[in-house]
Amino acid sequence: MKRLDLSDENIRNTLMPHCRLKPGEVWHDPKSGHIVGCGDCTDTKFIQQLTDNSNRATLAIQDPPYNVAMFELMAVSEYIESCQRWINNSANCMTEDAALYIWMGADQKNHFQPLPQFMAMMAGSGFDSKSFITMRNQRGYGTQQNWMAVRQELLCYTRGKPTFNVQYTDIPKILRGYYKDINGQRTENSERSHSDCIRASNVWVDIQQVFYRMKENVGGCAAQKPVKAIERIINASSNIGDIVLDFFAHAGTTLIAAEQTERKCVTCDIDPIFAEITIRRLEHLRQTGENGWQMGHPFEQEMRSCEKTSVDQNELNSTITA
Ligand SMILES: C[S@@+](CC[C@H](N)C(=O)[O-])C[C@H]1O[C@@H](n2cnc3c(N)ncnc32)[C@H](O)[C@@H]1O
Repeated sequence: MKRLDLSDENIRNTLMPHCRLKPGEVWHDPKSGHIVGCGDCTDTKFIQQLTDNSNRATLAIQDPPYNVAMFELMAVSEYIESCQRWINNSANCMTEDAALYIWMGADQKNHFQPLPQFMAMMAGSGFDSKSFITMRNQRGYGTQQNWMAVRQELLCYTRGKPTFNVQYTDIPKILRGYYKDINGQRTENSERSHSDCIRASNVWVDIQQVFYRMKENVGGCAAQKPVKAIERIINASSNIGDIVLDFFAHAGTTLIAAEQTERKCVTCDIDPIFAEITIRRLEHLRQTGENGWQMGHPFEQEMRSCEKTSVDQNELNSTITA
């Protein structure tokens, strides 16, 4: 199957008519009450429409473009100004006791921008800093002249007193070696713990980065996060039935994780193609039980008929020439 390259204008023009949301439009899921919009999350009017001015989230998970090399670069001050707008919009549609997680990049070739500037901006946001998590990618990038880059930064902020449920990894505890005397009884550390597995900390090394052979793969979505990472955040910082907000839907990972953990997701993307992918991924999960397209993508049918049309056209052209 051909790779879905969404930076290709011809492919985008082919797919656009198949996107059910135009900019400014919102889709309401009739089954579980999720909401998906197509629009700009820095636009307060659009966000009010998306959240219906009443849907308050206890948790937001935001994954903006990082403003680092290989993507389109803005001046860092301009980038932070736009972050300030979507942070304000997030804050306005969250409950008083809430958690806000933000994935953020750091350009090692450029004084780690925009991470330090973003952190400084957040100091005046009304949220308290809570944790600075690093997730390790399996595949890194870099040369023999530098440390291989494998980290993804995840900032956790809170306001009020939000839920926090301790999470455990799948990594078994293998270390024993210290004990405590409790009520006259000597117990090993592992005997006293709540799980046989290691507690999730602020360094995550147990989550597989998504690649095309994985079931959750969504072809065309290069920035997709692993469902396991988003489920970990949701399970830690919300309860069943809560609303989870995500302004940067892309492959719809937060929507999928919310569906699988019985939360409601309110999400949007500025790009109609990613808004459509988000809705299709939910429908695909419900129809097949799969949360992605292993080695495939959500527009396979459209691309097949488009490839067939161009083959037919080529045959016609060669017949005419002959
Ligand atoms: C890093 S990706 C998010 C990945 C997502 N967490 C996932 O797992 O698939 C960022 C997305 O934000 C969208 N985006 C960029 N600027 C936006 C804006 N101002 N409003 C809404 N979406 C935006 C992009 O189109 C892109 O799909």
